[in-house]
Amino acid sequence: MKDEFKIYRLDNFGRGISYYNGKVIFIENALDGENIEAEVKEVKKNIYEADTIRVIDKSPERMEPRCPFYKNCGGCNIMHMNYPKQLRFKEEKVRYLLKKFADIDEDKIKQIIATTQFGYRNKITLKVREKVGFYKKKSYEVVPISSCQVALPKINEIINEIINLDYKNVDEIIIKSTLAGETMIILKVLGDVDEEYFLTKMEHLTDNIVIIQDGISRTIFGKGYITEKLGDYFFKISSLSFFQVNTDGAKKLYDKVKEYGSLQTNERVLDLYCGTGTIGIYLSDSAKDVNGLEINNEAVQDAQDNIAINKVVNVKIEQKDVSKVIDKYENIELVVVDPPRSGLSKKALSNILEVNPNRIVYVSCDPATLSRDLNILKENYEVKEVTPVDMFPNTYHVECVCLLMKK
Ligand SMILES: C[S@@+](CC[C@H](N)C(=O)[O-])C[C@H]1O[C@@H](n2cnc3c(N)ncnc32)[C@H](O)[C@@H]1O
Repeated sequence: MKDEFKIYRLDNFGRGISYYNGKVIFIENALDGENIEAEVKEVKKNIYEADTIRVIDKSPERMEPRCPFYKNCGGCNIMHMNYPKQLRFKEEKVRYLLKKFADIDEDKIKQIIATTQFGYRNKITLKVREKVGFYKKKSYEVVPISSCQVALPKINEIINEIINLDYKNVDEIIIKSTLAGETMIILKVLGDVDEEYFLTKMEHLTDNIVIIQDGISRTIFGKGYITEKLGDYFFKISSLSFFQVNTDGAKKLYDKVKEYGSLQTNERVLDLYCGTGTIGIYLSDSAKDVNGLEINNEAVQDAQDNIAINKVVNVKIEQKDVSKVIDKYENIELVVVDPPRSGLSKKALSNILEVNPNRIVYVSCDPATLSRDLNILKENYEVKEVTPVDMFPNTYHVECVCLLMKK
């Protein structure tokens, strides 16, 4: 059913909010202040959603999405907002969520750090079904694509060359790239594949080809990793380990962590969820020592290599689950945490309180779980400042760096 709507504000997913039959309706691709025509769906009893069909009165903050697949592809969701609007939307979202769920004063949330709107992602994951592409919005159906506006240029060169190959038994194609253009193609497979075929078709396009089967990776071409430079440090990125997907953003994020950490060279740091040791190594020149804990074995191996590559002598990384019992650490001044989207488990929170640092820097990619955790940490720590960082332009996701000081 079609109807016209005035959009009053945006929800946390960047959808326009209006009213229909006296109920709230969430409208895709609509901006606050606009009048639009939309197709209404009742998704559950009295819960309405809609898709914009026509913009009647256009917001000055609307922009024509640069991506030809934007309407269907589930990768980006706010590309119809110009970049200043995207930044304001994210800053306001963080203020709203942290006030609502952790009662943090809005003036503690500082100006968002911008990155670049397009061509920033150093990793993409293509799904292989009948066609190669990304999942459609809210579906496991694959939308075929031939380019990705948010990916680094080198990744786009590769996508274009590989989308029409024969991918029997391949589930996903992951492409990673550094800013300098070093690349890796990773094939996540479900059974045997014709390796010779992929070597012939891909060798001239990339520096590395890796096969992942049942969680185990095997390099069939190249050295099996790429190396990125952030500030004065070099970081090895392999097929399975985590690296921040926005390299420019990662540098800005780590600079903020360093600023909030305000370390003295006689101070000790505990880096939890440390991945390949990036934050710990980044802080190492201003600390006495850094202990990093990380659950993923491949990331820990990469972290050891990163320590060696960068010749840092005061960083130690161990494979440990932060949600289980951890060693006793004495005289830790700063704990840095950078958990996955799910945030900190109860045990992780109690481990941190046990370490009893003077300061905590919490790096979060989900302001909802961040506010849940801050609500608990707030009993012993004062939330001093939160800085959002735009690590994921054109999506509703936002990263936050938060400084807490012992009361
Ligand atoms: C958001 S990443 C952050 C990595 C790193 N700080 C960085 O900036 O690249 C989260 C990391 O936490 C690790 N992780 C997830 N659950 C964990 C747990 N229970 N204990 C330790 N590490 C965990 C993941 O393997 C991943 O490397």
